Amino acid sequence: MSNKAVLAYSGGLDTSVAIKWLKERYNLDVITLAVDIGNVADLEAIKQKAVNLGAIKSLVIDARESFVKDFVFPALQADAVYEGQYPLATALGRPLIVQLLVETAKREGATAVAHGCTGKGNDQVRFDVGIAALAPELKVIAPAREWAMTREQTIAYAQEHNIPIPVTVTSPYSIDENLWGRSIECGVLEDPWNEPPGDVFVWTKPLEETLSEPTYLEIGFDMGIPISLDGENLDGVKLIQRIHELAGKHSIGRIDHIENRLVGIKSREIYEAPAAVVLLKAHQALEDLVLTKEQLRFKAKVASEYADLVYNGLWFSGLRQDLAAYVESSQRYVTGTVKVKLFKGNCQVVGRKSPYSLYDYSLATYDKGDIFDQSASSGFIHIWGLPVRTQAQAQHLKPSE
Ligand code: ARG
Repeated sequence: MSNKAVLAYSGGLDTSVAIKWLKERYNLDVITLAVDIGNVADLEAIKQKAVNLGAIKSLVIDARESFVKDFVFPALQADAVYEGQYPLATALGRPLIVQLLVETAKREGATAVAHGCTGKGNDQVRFDVGIAALAPELKVIAPAREWAMTREQTIAYAQEHNIPIPVTVTSPYSIDENLWGRSIECGVLEDPWNEPPGDVFVWTKPLEETLSEPTYLEIGFDMGIPISLDGENLDGVKLIQRIHELAGKHSIGRIDHIENRLVGIKSREIYEAPAAVVLLKAHQALEDLVLTKEQLRFKAKVASEYADLVYNGLWFSGLRQDLAAYVESSQRYVTGTVKVKLFKGNCQVVGRKSPYSLYDYSLATYDKGDIFDQSASSGFIHIWGLPVRTQAQAQHLKPSE
């Protein structure tokens, strides 16, 4: 009797080849699991394809809702962006796929799980570390990392084994996509001097072809979660899809990032993340209104730590959970509406309001109605400047020092 393995299946060339390879190399019966987090065109076709290739069972799960609720929105509340540029779409999808792989393996009595990652990227780390955290008893197999075949060898293997070569194989790029963003690398993009050719982008119009009128959008937030567009309540998946459409028409969300991988390699990745770029900007604009200076500064540090943990495959760590608890607490008053203007590649915040706003007109105004006691300032400044006056006298600091 052979053992069973659950394979994270995309329907692409590598994971299709892996179905045969796991049987040949390890005599494992393969159960495939395709997870839709906003990336899958035809779940039924993928399901059938795996069966045709010899999978003993082919499962598909629509996990879009959970992806948004449990991964994307917590990361949005955290303002998590890796190295100031990458909204972490791929990185956020991995721990959810890991959870589902592990659940499936337990339910099906499998002894191993498998994924299609190579040995050079971050995704292998996210899978391996995540699986080890949730189910250390499961063996993890990464066929592409083990076989180390070139693209040509993989294609030859597929031909020998009657595995249909998907049309995407002719694409010069490696692409990963989900609701939060699209990641594109390889081909001409590997030379960081090359401008990304037009065919890299699918979700965003070139700047030359954007609309000639701006689009205004009012995004409503409740405790840091976006809940409405122009006054209409929408569930998370729909809200992201709607913003994605609108912002893409204005060429918003193109990112060209020289990024530092966990395995030490610098890589060049292009991202398209129209909804993420708009929502992150709007969310931060609302925080600017309702959080104090100290809360904002501390939260920016948490955001960068949080992003690093997600990127580095440590979603299931205690520290990520601790930071998430802080982030959640910080969102108690992040409720209100942000008005953005989408135009010519830019998402500009042009208005914000909240019942918990800390902006006080009667303190800020230079017009009548001013209640700020200007006479109190001189005493405050006297004390504030005390250390500088003391030092200047004791140490005779020169302006050029
Ligand atoms: N660099 C991104 C990350 O590490 C995306 C990786 C997948 N990219 C791809 N084009 N297949 O999260």
